[in-house]
Amino acid sequence: MKLSDLSLSNKRILVRLDLNCPLDGEQNISDDSRILAALPTIKYLIKKGGRLILCSHLGRPDKKRLPNGNIDRQRFSLAPIAQRLSELLDQTVFFQQDCIGPEVQAAAANLQNGQILLLENTRFYKEEKKGDKAFAAELAALADVYINDAFGTAHRAHASTAVVADFFLPQAKAIGLLMQKEVEQANKLLHEPKRPYLAIVGGAKVSDKILLLEKLVEKVDVLLIGGGMAYTLLKAQGAEIGASLVEDDKLDLAKKFLEKAAQKGIKVLLPEDSYIANEFSATAEKKLADNKNIPTGWMGLDIGPKAQTAFISEIQQAASILWNGPMGVFEFAAFAEGTKKLGQAVVEATQKGAFSLVGGGDSVAALKKLGKAHAVSHLSTGGGATLEYLQGNELPGLKAIEQ
Ligand code: 3PG
Ligand code: MG
Repeated sequence: MKLSDLSLSNKRILVRLDLNCPLDGEQNISDDSRILAALPTIKYLIKKGGRLILCSHLGRPDKKRLPNGNIDRQRFSLAPIAQRLSELLDQTVFFQQDCIGPEVQAAAANLQNGQILLLENTRFYKEEKKGDKAFAAELAALADVYINDAFGTAHRAHASTAVVADFFLPQAKAIGLLMQKEVEQANKLLHEPKRPYLAIVGGAKVSDKILLLEKLVEKVDVLLIGGGMAYTLLKAQGAEIGASLVEDDKLDLAKKFLEKAAQKGIKVLLPEDSYIANEFSATAEKKLADNKNIPTGWMGLDIGPKAQTAFISEIQQAASILWNGPMGVFEFAAFAEGTKKLGQAVVEATQKGAFSLVGGGDSVAALKKLGKAHAVSHLSTGGGATLEYLQGNELPGLKAIEQ
């Protein structure tokens, strides 16, 4: 059902959000975009007289355990998020140090209309990622209505993002306003995009994105590849890439991908040159190299000027643009030029009428650093989710509501 068709007054509403924000070592939120993006749905539900039970994951607590093997409940706590939400909404957001159990049940039952409760990290339970039914049932038992607004996590078939929806009748579940907006914007690229459709894909690893690349070449007209992943593709073409990042076990896959793209007549551009460094550091010695011949011991950390010119000229001709992943190690000022210049080109193309969608934490961060976050058509809160959706894959978080 549509959010606007649901009966919400006096109802306990379980709202799955993606409040997975980066925190620094002192538990300060370094980027609150996802919290800001969640506000319209929260405010809407409050205005309708709902009693909100918010839940989310934060990080991957199972991967970064304490030395004794336990979950690091402090580092991955949503407590700082509750604090920030309280400030932004100008009302107390109550916090529970668990997401299921008797205390949570009591707190949920005692909520009054317009009150908000945030639950602790759903990934403190391994059942979350397993999509465990019993765990999902416990979450579901807290509420009368379920809203999924966690677009950033919609590509995960987890207990709180997908399985929980099975416990609610069609008239008691819906997607939230953020999810609606994200899907609407992504649909502009998925269904009959204005052509030429150009995708810029960067980031460190080919292994993360090779499947995406294979599907993207079915959809786009031009594909620009930069970042660490480009070097595996360059090596697959026979280039000497020195000490650049490479995944040798993906060379065959990379070769096949390039052949497939060529057969299809898709223009795939790899960077012709790189800014190279003698070590992986912000203060490394820096020089320019042709990507066919990167000297031994040196590594490419950014795309060079020839690559920038070639890429920018394609961007200028594009009518639809998807950007995911930086062109280099933009966290190091000395190797941020390529990402910055491409970001600037995307902004200019947007001003001239192209539709641009930027997704993925790093490219979004790069754009923010440029102060241009609002100068693209859509800045997505999802990286993985956007890419899955744009390949034509179903998002479990969406399907769970719509089926
Ligand atoms: C993200 O930031 O990618 C989303 O919050 C999903 O998190 P995950 O990649 O750890 O599943
Ligand atoms: Mg992710």
